[in-house]
Amino acid sequence: MTDGSDMYQPELERAPARGIWGSRVGFILAATGSAIGLGNIWKFPYITGVYGGGAFVLVYLISVVIVGLPLMIAELMIGRHSKKNPVGAFKTLHHPRSPWQLTGWLGVLSGFVILSFYSVVAGWAMAYIFKSAAGFSGTAEQIQGEYGALVADPALSILWHTIFMVLCIGIVAGGVQRGIERWSKILMPTLFAILLGLMAYGLFWTDGGARAMNFLFKPDFSKLSAEAALSALGHAFFTLSLGMGAMLTYGSYMRRDESITRDAITVSVLDTVIALIAGIAIYALVFNFDTDPAAGPGLIFQTLPVLFAETGPWISVPFFILLTFAALTSGISLLEVVVSYFIDERRWGRIKSTLILGTAIYLFGLLSAVAALTVPFRGKQQGFFDIFDFISTNYMLPIGGFLTCLFAAWVMKKASMISEFGSGGIMFKGLVFVLRFVTPVAVLLVLLHGLELLPFMEY
Ligand code: TRP
Repeated sequence: MTDGSDMYQPELERAPARGIWGSRVGFILAATGSAIGLGNIWKFPYITGVYGGGAFVLVYLISVVIVGLPLMIAELMIGRHSKKNPVGAFKTLHHPRSPWQLTGWLGVLSGFVILSFYSVVAGWAMAYIFKSAAGFSGTAEQIQGEYGALVADPALSILWHTIFMVLCIGIVAGGVQRGIERWSKILMPTLFAILLGLMAYGLFWTDGGARAMNFLFKPDFSKLSAEAALSALGHAFFTLSLGMGAMLTYGSYMRRDESITRDAITVSVLDTVIALIAGIAIYALVFNFDTDPAAGPGLIFQTLPVLFAETGPWISVPFFILLTFAALTSGISLLEVVVSYFIDERRWGRIKSTLILGTAIYLFGLLSAVAALTVPFRGKQQGFFDIFDFISTNYMLPIGGFLTCLFAAWVMKKASMISEFGSGGIMFKGLVFVLRFVTPVAVLLVLLHGLELLPFMEY
């Protein structure tokens, strides 16, 4: 079907096996569902705490605009113009033997690896729904210790990992409209409602609301290190699900009459607003009980449960349901990237692709679910969970994002881009300029920092 030209080919629109979103709202909710995940509810609040609050938040907001938004527009353009999975997209837009398809391969591989450990954390979130329903009690040490006990218990971690993967497989097997879109329309509004409720609780029923707002929105630049700024940049990238073809794949199911720019802005704004609201809800509790905001990765599973022992299950159960829903809509997009490759390029049916690849990812994830399994990595014994997390966040996503950006800016035909963007005016020229000179430099900084190669940093 490809002759090396990337002219818009109307017959592709009717390809029967491929899905297409039923409505604009459906696409927005699915894409927002991909973006809003553990990154927003777990990671953003804790790294904000570690890096001291407001100034970090400001750099993060700037990064979303200059790195995240242009790259999201680029991914959606590549996806919608090619109507393909990440590997097929680069082939279609360049030529069938193009080396750029390696970018797509890296994306499919990233989806595979990320979902394998993402599912394990998502499993802990589900386990905590039930733990909170039973109520947290005992001393602070005892409550915090429950998390270590869960992580260290392979049978429990595997049980929840299994349940989470079964849910992802079930939804993705249903297809683009009747699986992903339908479930996003149920899960995302519930998530918004729970989060608004929790924010209202934090602001109006606790005494920590005002301090939370100050902490998040009053920048203190003396706390802003180069390390903090680079982490903010890297996080902007991760939280918008960029760099591995997830947005590209979702873009490939978009209708041609929708504005990519408008939708990318909507998704980025929603993702950012949700991260900030999660921050407010969590920090209001943290400050209400005079707890340390810089608790690190244990903030959600260790610090919060101690506070939940005071508030009761009315707050904690919805909180962990929120976390599970956020993880689920991200998990399905990770799986969809891998599955779409087998549907388009190998001509497998959707059910077969989903079952086989979902099972493979599940089995691979067992490595991460067993915390006792460690191997030497970067000078110390580490579990697979940490290793995969490290490799994907620091290497795979930034490399993928860097290449995607270069492809869009320097290789993809301008006429194709303009046909997706809607016009070739000043806005378009601005986008191309940013994609050529600003975004790649920013992503390169994240990558070099992840490789510990930046000359002006201490490692
Ligand atoms: N954006 C997700 C989050 O905030 C994580 C993520 C990164 C992701 N890359 C992805 C999710 C690709 C789906 C697809 O938690």
